[in-house]
Amino acid sequence: MACAICDGTGWKPIEVDGVARVTRCDCWRAKVSDTLMAAARIPARYQRCDLDAFITYPNERLLGAVQRARKFADEFPVVDKGLFFVGPPGIGKTHLAVAVLRRAIRDRGAQGLFYDTRELLKLIRSTYDPVVKTTESQVLTPVMRADLLVLDDLGAEKASEWVEETLNLIVNTRYNERRATIFTSNFEEKEDREDPDSLLARVGFRMHSRLYEMCHFLEFDGADFRHSEPNSGPNELLALWKNLKRPAKLPSKSGGPIRAQLREPRPERELKWTGGKAGS
Ligand SMILES: Nc1ncnc2c1ncn2[C@@H]1O[C@H](COP(=O)(O)OP(=O)(O)OP(=O)(O)O)[C@@H](O)[C@H]1O
Ligand SMILES: [Mg+2]
Ligand SMILES: [Zn+2]
Repeated sequence: MACAICDGTGWKPIEVDGVARVTRCDCWRAKVSDTLMAAARIPARYQRCDLDAFITYPNERLLGAVQRARKFADEFPVVDKGLFFVGPPGIGKTHLAVAVLRRAIRDRGAQGLFYDTRELLKLIRSTYDPVVKTTESQVLTPVMRADLLVLDDLGAEKASEWVEETLNLIVNTRYNERRATIFTSNFEEKEDREDPDSLLARVGFRMHSRLYEMCHFLEFDGADFRHSEPNSGPNELLALWKNLKRPAKLPSKSGGPIRAQLREPRPERELKWTGGKAGS
């Protein structure tokens, strides 16, 4: 059924200083927003995540992360840095990242994109041509061009020089073109720079330094929501967090070699991005 306000034209009449004008109808905005949301590849499990539904409790660093996420969503696209949510499993890192992404899409009409890092690399690899060392621009172009990109679970991927170069290329290109990126990761900073489960070891020197330049680091701990009772509120989560006994060290997720043991990256890139221009 056509919209009662605009009769399906997408334009509705308004009056500005006594002069009849037209503006986009709300139904048109809703349609655009739905299309952008559907294109963002948000996994079904997270499609309803929003900041208001995120339960908080007295946990300073968690509150700080939520506050920073809110500020980012309020100010986007006028933001100087992206976000990096770091911490143990189940504390809501992906939830917060998606909540911000959804707000940017819904409130700002942003072109947003969500990728699990391993899945993205798998997709790039499957279209990678080793002869010309390029990958299909259908995969890479949207990742480079998205107004806001979420790269989930950084560091969980199995390390290799190709992986490191590919991620560096994506992150550098977005950084140079001033496009914000939101990351999540289980791998925290460790005092021991040799620790194979440190963020530095998992992502490599270049990426590590770039991440600091381009993101607000939001490292926090909290209750593992996946282990909470259904309908848990702030009090239950606080109790769960207080009682929590985590292993001193997170187990390595990939079991793959760590980047710190790889040799320094070669200056020449393994993967070239042609800027998505046809025929180049
Ligand atoms: N504080 C919270 N309030 C409401 N829902 C939450 C909260 N924390 C987590 N959740 C929910 O719990 C589930 C797990 O959270 P999420 O996937 O965001 O965790 P994560 O920190 O990304 O974990 P991992 O490191 O394993 O990826 C999700 O369904 C999320 O919506
Ligand atoms: Mg997650
Ligand atoms: Zn309408």
